[in-house]
Amino acid sequence: MIEEIQILNNKSAAQKPRAVEISETTNGFNVYIETYGCQMNVNDSEIVAGILAQSGFGITDKIDNSNVILLNTCSVRDNAEAKIFKRLEQLRFYRKQNSKLLVGILGCMAERLRGKLVGHQDLVSIVVGPDEYRKVPEMIEQSMNGEVGIAVKLSRVETYDDIIPLRTQGISAWLSIIRGCDKFCTYCVVPYTRGRERSKPFPVVIKELIDLYELGYKEVTLLGQNVNSYIDMENKVDFAKLLVECAKAVPSMRIRYTTSHPYDMTDELIEAMASHHNICNYIHLPVQSGSDRILQMMNRHYTVEHYLDRMRKIKELIPNCSLSTDIITGFPTETEDDHKATMDLMAEVRYDGAYMFNYSPRSKTKAYMMEDDVTPDVKGRRLTEIIEQQNKISRELNEAEHGLIHEVLIEGTSKKNKNEWQGRTDTNKVVIFDNYEQNYKIGQTITCKITRSTSGTLFGDVV
Ligand code: 5AD
Ligand code: SF4
Repeated sequence: MIEEIQILNNKSAAQKPRAVEISETTNGFNVYIETYGCQMNVNDSEIVAGILAQSGFGITDKIDNSNVILLNTCSVRDNAEAKIFKRLEQLRFYRKQNSKLLVGILGCMAERLRGKLVGHQDLVSIVVGPDEYRKVPEMIEQSMNGEVGIAVKLSRVETYDDIIPLRTQGISAWLSIIRGCDKFCTYCVVPYTRGRERSKPFPVVIKELIDLYELGYKEVTLLGQNVNSYIDMENKVDFAKLLVECAKAVPSMRIRYTTSHPYDMTDELIEAMASHHNICNYIHLPVQSGSDRILQMMNRHYTVEHYLDRMRKIKELIPNCSLSTDIITGFPTETEDDHKATMDLMAEVRYDGAYMFNYSPRSKTKAYMMEDDVTPDVKGRRLTEIIEQQNKISRELNEAEHGLIHEVLIEGTSKKNKNEWQGRTDTNKVVIFDNYEQNYKIGQTITCKITRSTSGTLFGDVV
């Protein structure tokens, strides 16, 4: 049965496990970090790599060269955790080759499962939650002496604002500006694994941004579980103001942000996007369901009417803004009518893309107390219906792009065909174009006329 799918042409690097950038060892440890889950985790791995590199640890992107393997994990759905348990089984192979190999679990699963992970597969000796990454170097050293280490305290203040992340070289950087979540949606484990909301001070965000510009990055994505509830009380800066200040500080850089909550999608924020050319015209605004009854049970703090009003405002002020969302099917008590309301909402908004998931009960959450009463068959069928409808809409919206001209930031060669280039529009759509013989450079912006498309990709010619 399908359990989740994304129909998007912005499949992020976070979808596949990924290693971070390389750094030489001075203390004999070579650490390989594999990242699962959301973009916050991708940036957290860069933070861990930064902390380790500062203490003399080597960071390698080749698992065979490593003597420490860290998995940065996700707990949001059961299948995310199942993937890690499978991976641990595979890692036994590396342990057989090197009995001194250390394996650690970082991130949300570490926070959620804690001691239960220690010794798993006779393998895991380090367990570190999202707010304790400063301890990773000493824990690796202690674990070398046979000790087992767990650090899973959540913090109300930790933002790692003095740590320089060891970023994967490229043109696009992640910058986390707020950690944790205070929304407590009833299905979601994040408030328990990542703790309370806390924002990075405004001057620190601007400094990091300017540093990224000076390092040659062309695009930055401001990150947070609820990025638009950012608030720096001391400097009186909310998210709309922060976005404007970021856009002004680096006018030639593209600024993106994710993920926002409909409750905090203010007029000021939409106006800020509309009035600054370098704030990208793309919004990921998870709706989760199109039924008011389910939204209330989910504790989402908005109604369908409020959500649609936000969409109208966005379309009014930013007519070419592309939109994506998250949907959960089969939340407890979801009826055919609730499901139809979700289908109707998606048909009304006409998202460019969507991440769609079957509901997965998570212990500790409020919904966990409710009976998971939508059968797997019904969940699967509803998910398929949503996916098919979204596929059709994505295809139609991409077809409507034929003949249009976009500025495309070149990201590299196409993954499918090394003789083609791949870039991204301001609206976050992937564009493939050939002209390989031209000596384009990664990070260069070119103008492309869209000639054809699929539901997930645009194809164009340079003009
Ligand atoms: N089951 C299914 N999907 C979930 N999400 C969060 N928690 C769950 C869960 N228990 C989805 C939401 C959220 C996205 C990151 O993951 O759609 O927006
Ligand atoms: Fe989870 Fe809701 Fe917070 Fe998003 S807003 S991280 S879905 S609790």
